Amino acid sequence: MKNLVLILALLLSVGFARAEELLSPNGNQKLEFEVIDGQPVYRLFYKGEAVIKDSRLGFDLKNEADLLNDFVVDGVKRSTFDESWKPVWGEVSEIRDHYNELAVTLNQTTTDRKMIVRFRLFDDGLGFRYEFPDQPNLVYFVIKEEKTQFAMPGDITAWWIPGDYDTQEYSYHKSKLSEIRGLMQAAITPNASQKAAGPTTVQTALMLKTDDGIYLNLHEAALVDYSCMHLNLDDQDMVFTSQLTPDAVGDKGYMQAPCTSPWRTVIVSDKAGDILLSHITLNLNEPCKIADTSWIKPVKYVGVWWEMITGKSSWAYADVPSVQLGVTDFSKLTQNGRHAANTAHVKAYIDFAAKYGFDGVLVEGWNEGWEDWFGKSKDYVFDFVTPYPDFDVDEIRDYAASKGVQIIMHHETSGSVRNYERHMDEAYQFMVDHGYHAVKSGYVGDIIPRGETHYSQFIVNHYHYAIEKAADYKIMVNAHEAVRPTGICRTYPNLIGNESARGTEYEAFGGNTPDHTTILPFTRLIGGPMDYTPGIFEQDVSQYNPDNHSWVNTTIARQLALYVTMYSPLQMAADLPETYEKYLDAFQFIVDVPVDWDDSKVLEAEPGDYITYARKEKGTDNWFVGRTNDEEPRTSEISLDFLPEGEKYLATVYHDRKDAHYKNNPKAYEIEKFAVTNKSKFELFCASGGGYAISLIKVDDPKALKGIKKH
Ligand code: NOJ
Ligand code: CA
Repeated sequence: MKNLVLILALLLSVGFARAEELLSPNGNQKLEFEVIDGQPVYRLFYKGEAVIKDSRLGFDLKNEADLLNDFVVDGVKRSTFDESWKPVWGEVSEIRDHYNELAVTLNQTTTDRKMIVRFRLFDDGLGFRYEFPDQPNLVYFVIKEEKTQFAMPGDITAWWIPGDYDTQEYSYHKSKLSEIRGLMQAAITPNASQKAAGPTTVQTALMLKTDDGIYLNLHEAALVDYSCMHLNLDDQDMVFTSQLTPDAVGDKGYMQAPCTSPWRTVIVSDKAGDILLSHITLNLNEPCKIADTSWIKPVKYVGVWWEMITGKSSWAYADVPSVQLGVTDFSKLTQNGRHAANTAHVKAYIDFAAKYGFDGVLVEGWNEGWEDWFGKSKDYVFDFVTPYPDFDVDEIRDYAASKGVQIIMHHETSGSVRNYERHMDEAYQFMVDHGYHAVKSGYVGDIIPRGETHYSQFIVNHYHYAIEKAADYKIMVNAHEAVRPTGICRTYPNLIGNESARGTEYEAFGGNTPDHTTILPFTRLIGGPMDYTPGIFEQDVSQYNPDNHSWVNTTIARQLALYVTMYSPLQMAADLPETYEKYLDAFQFIVDVPVDWDDSKVLEAEPGDYITYARKEKGTDNWFVGRTNDEEPRTSEISLDFLPEGEKYLATVYHDRKDAHYKNNPKAYEIEKFAVTNKSKFELFCASGGGYAISLIKVDDPKALKGIKKH
């Protein structure tokens, strides 16, 4: 009898402990969820292998009981979803949103508070979020910390940057998880605003690889009214726990039910290319909220920019230590002679843009206030509507319009979010009145209100406010130094770009590592497009500014590849017009390459080593291929089997010469033309820090290929 009771008790406990299982539509991913000793726990398997081990879920709350323990499952709902949608712009023209869902309602027995964890399992990974339904015992609450765990399957490899509440402008490190602590201090390189988040805290999107060759990517989707998540590693047990960005008083989130957290995402595959092609981040965002999107258009642009970044020219009009808007009479200041945003010079850029078919010209330094914009924590630093005396806004508007070119507005806020919000309506109205349709905004330096950082809930809400308000004015936004994107461009496709990582500008501030662009698509670009500003043909920055000895760590051929490998509907040709005029044969690729696509394929990829993409231009039969390579010379082997059967194409191949090298021979490129079909294959040399680009233009009349080598 005693034994029977024991057996029964055992059976019952096994019965209670049975985990809820969820499979992805193709069965490759399996999620398990259960409550163990009152704590919600999930785990994830890929093709039978545990990729996220037992990981707890919940929250530490301020001034009330935590949402971590004493839970029971109060209900479980399962569903399936399979729909396709068309992005306004993108890497593909149609995206399938296909998942199986498990929504678990948890009740905390000691407090009678409810929390739903909603899991969506796609063929390429997992998304889950917390939901707080309307209920009497949990209405207003303050998050002390989110305690979502991601238990790693061992001491695996990561491509990471330091956790920081103010910047993502770091170089990536590849290391074992256990090595992060030892590398952290050296990884925190200087920035205009930075606040390190901890000795083992890293940022998302975090790219990982197991010893068995399974790729994992941890990020978040739909970061709305919540603070940005970092990942804090327990490097004994190899468990990451979410670490939210605190606000000025140290709190991490002010919530009012009903509400939700952003989605936490785990993209998983045994193919690196699948991570790049995953649409989980977009799929977990809300559908487009802008009714008429006809005014949202991808943009290829040049700009009055690199000359300031290199120090050849200046944003400021005068070299004076202090100015005050509304007080200083700028027309009385002595001009420094290096102010690039002057009417004549901007017109020359407009001419260049018109000659080569660019959509836009970005002009920075056009407005009063740049003399002391940086590092002074000035509240009222810019008004966003008052041009310098040598920038004739009407003349430029008319000239640009006559040439069919758009001027792209620039709103540097200098981190003074308060000041920007105060001027935003007037600033956007000024744009409408002067024919501007896109703005590059920026948040250099420490945030005002003081004590806030770039990624707190409060400031995340500001970036969102700016995007929504811009949509009211039919303005497209490209925000620099803002929080890294989380797929919000699905909901607000007027968010056509973000920086939120170490961009090309750092090539003029000492340089980016040659492998940088082989990592960014696996990390920063998982959340959305980056305004990386490629196209630098002159590596020796001292050619522009004798005092700047930076070197752009790339071959010219690799710069061309970036227009394909760094997906963005907003692409800049960042170098100076006079430099492009010297290399017009290579520049032709930048002229030809589109910024919007019907289809994208990854031909080769390994984070930190190389990426080769092929993409089909939106609305045409033309394809473009780009390959970015790290510091190790390699041979890329690709097949053009993605081309349609039986069709003929003219391939123009822009590749590194055998003697090319990013340091000592970066301009050694060769351009070759071939007649190709979908049976063609290429073996192409990629130099150290090099790569290649190929345009594939469909030829209807075979005579057009006369005299061109078949390949
Ligand atoms: C930093 C941005 O990333 C850069 O593109 C811009 O030129 C400067 N801020 C000045 O606003
Ligand atoms: Ca920047």
